[in-house]
Amino acid sequence: MQEKIQQADGKLGILIPGLGAVATTLIAGVEAIRQGLSQPIGSLTQMGNIRLGKRTENRYPLIREFVPLADLKDIVFGGWDVYADNVFEAASKAKVLEPSLLAAIKPNLQALVPMKAVFDKSYVRNLDGSNVKQAATKYDLAKAVMDDIENFREANDCSRVVVVWCGSTERYIETGRVHETIEQFEEGLRENDPMISPSMIYAYAAIRLGVPFANGAPNLTCDIPALMELARRTETPIAGKDFKTGQTLMKTILAPGLHARALGIRGWFSTNILGNRDGLVLDDPDNFKTKEVSKLSVLDDILRPELNPELYGELYHKVRINYYPPHGDNKESWDNIDIFGWLGYPMQIKINFLCRDSILAAPIVLDLALFMDLSKRAGMSGIQEWLSFYFKSPQTAPGLRPEHDIFKQLIKLQNTLRHMMGEDLITHLGLDYYQDLVEAL
Ligand SMILES: NC(=O)c1ccc[n+]([C@@H]2O[C@H](COP(=O)([O-])OP(=O)(O)OC[C@H]3O[C@@H](n4cnc5c(N)ncnc54)[C@H](O)[C@@H]3O)[C@@H](O)[C@H]2O)c1
Repeated sequence: MQEKIQQADGKLGILIPGLGAVATTLIAGVEAIRQGLSQPIGSLTQMGNIRLGKRTENRYPLIREFVPLADLKDIVFGGWDVYADNVFEAASKAKVLEPSLLAAIKPNLQALVPMKAVFDKSYVRNLDGSNVKQAATKYDLAKAVMDDIENFREANDCSRVVVVWCGSTERYIETGRVHETIEQFEEGLRENDPMISPSMIYAYAAIRLGVPFANGAPNLTCDIPALMELARRTETPIAGKDFKTGQTLMKTILAPGLHARALGIRGWFSTNILGNRDGLVLDDPDNFKTKEVSKLSVLDDILRPELNPELYGELYHKVRINYYPPHGDNKESWDNIDIFGWLGYPMQIKINFLCRDSILAAPIVLDLALFMDLSKRAGMSGIQEWLSFYFKSPQTAPGLRPEHDIFKQLIKLQNTLRHMMGEDLITHLGLDYYQDLVEAL
């Protein structure tokens, strides 16, 4: 496979629908890093190492030196938003990064002006922007997005492009008839079927062009049979859903540990307050429902109550998000976990995480863009399950349970990279050389 991977020559365009808090924190961050003002903390592609071979070989290269990834200096950003603010203005309003940092990179951010969005207020009732495309049909809107992608590629002399959805969470919908086949989906586009959401239109446009598409929100978007089939036909990598940050990141770190030690869990109550635009959108019950489904799914899959009814059969799991403007992007979350141990004796764990949502999400967007581009150059298409590591609600092949345990997700990600580069997969067995070491003492 290694010989087949095309090198990351030329520029990589990262196009983002939704230039809000997460996207502007990423773009400003990459600019600051390129100018030597900061470090890409939290990005596995930039700061992570990978073990190769046996433990005795002591080979731990940086991931970016092991696999051919686009260099940060070769990235060009662009995107769409329903508000016309340039990236400097949007980042200033998001109030994630210090004004002094933004001032140092102001001209580069000001130059980034969002393209007109595909938007439908019935999917996000709490937003009201006017930087929106007008067209007779959803099919025309999809063609307009395809033109945007091609024009961007040409204007910026990009050899490759990827798209990562960082737009608001859309209202909850389930897969329906129009999502089942490519033909039904295209007919729905021409007939303005209300079950086709804006994010699906961006996804369709990208996938039609063979441009990798990742979805950072919990909306269905490319997680429908029609777009999975289109991705297969156009040999396009796709991935989703919902960046794994904050409270859910903690949950998928802690729950596998409790489960590993066969400790029981009776209840897990999670509540959050946040005051950014994401919080405002999620204040609408239909949009919160999309997020709730994504957040609730993780524990069942990690704990498998059907296999361990004594430990997890009675588990009560509740997730709440409350819009609280004074906290802005600095989300605060509380978890109360009722666990029990030997002979059923109860214990409690309390977590109070004072996190910064976009600071945790920005490196995920960067890693996803770089790995999706790698997948494409490696000839890997369809659902990229090896990138589950980054998602709250990983997209999988139909009928397959998603893997939520972050440690298993990491093993899968690293083994995929080893596989791509022709290195031995690591099973952590070690018996083949352990005895030799003991005997050599
Ligand atoms: N920050 C995190 O930790 C985190 C974690 C998981 C998922 N997410 C998801 O990522 C997304 C972005 O989060 P954020 O904090 O940047 O939110 P945000 O509200 O600051 O930014 C979203 C942007 O998308 C724009 N938008 C909405 N619909 C659009 C459309 N159809 N086309 C183009 N632009 C559109 C909005 O105008 C807004 O500027 C949200 O869906 C959020 O739920 C964020």
